[in-house]
Amino acid sequence: PVKRIGVPDIRARKGGEPLVCLTAYDAPTARLLDPHCDVLLVGDSVGMVVHGLPNTIPVTLDMMILHGQAVMRGASRAMVVVDMPFGSYEASPEQAFMNAARILRETGAQAVKLESGVYIADTIRYLVDRGVPVMAHVGLRPQAALAEGGFKAKGRSEDERARVLNEARAADAAGAFAIVVEGVAEDLAAELTGVVAAPTIGIGASASCDGQILVTPDMLGLFDWTPRFVKRYADLKGLTEDAVKAYADDVRARRFPGPDQVYRITRA
Ligand code: KIV
Ligand code: NA
Repeated sequence: PVKRIGVPDIRARKGGEPLVCLTAYDAPTARLLDPHCDVLLVGDSVGMVVHGLPNTIPVTLDMMILHGQAVMRGASRAMVVVDMPFGSYEASPEQAFMNAARILRETGAQAVKLESGVYIADTIRYLVDRGVPVMAHVGLRPQAALAEGGFKAKGRSEDERARVLNEARAADAAGAFAIVVEGVAEDLAAELTGVVAAPTIGIGASASCDGQILVTPDMLGLFDWTPRFVKRYADLKGLTEDAVKAYADDVRARRFPGPDQVYRITRA
């Protein structure tokens, strides 16, 4: 069996070959992504892109564990990281540890990720000291969408730039092995990458980050609308629509099933 990418391998990529990361939520997709990716993130974006929720707030720990288990069945080489959902880690370091331990134990994933305002640094330290590898997530933090009235890129004021830099510095000092930087001004993402020891993984950030991540159904073109930072590498929406239309036409015209799709069994 192939050796799985681990925390030291990711750390060692600071300033080196960019880390290739994508989200995954199910086993067959994980199997397709695994040979090409360093990290597969079971993101709480699953709530929006798979379950049709308006934001990530209603996502539960049980949902994350179920999808984490599925992704682990499909991935053998990439590191698998599971998001801690809203409400599963903010109350106390102890709460975070109990829930992170459940994720690692029940899924077999290598690490957890949590959205990390400066206030969460003590929790990161608490987890790391107890053997839980933590990926941090700074800048635009989707779990703050209710408080902030939506998803807004960061870096519009000196104040906001300083806040994002402080989030990254705090997570770095607390022992996070990598830091996702989401939705920040390009120059701020570049500056931030230069001041932390942990590799940064950008999304709507900068090509000078130590790696990149996208939401897989976004980059495969499954949706009409995507944020500015998404590059579409396929047209999954168009392909799916064409295929379903062709199937519907075939069924209505009795062209499907054809001779190749039926069992012709000679009776004994
Ligand atoms: O939930 C998610 O998919 C994420 C990535 C976009 C970083 O947190
Ligand atoms: Na997330």
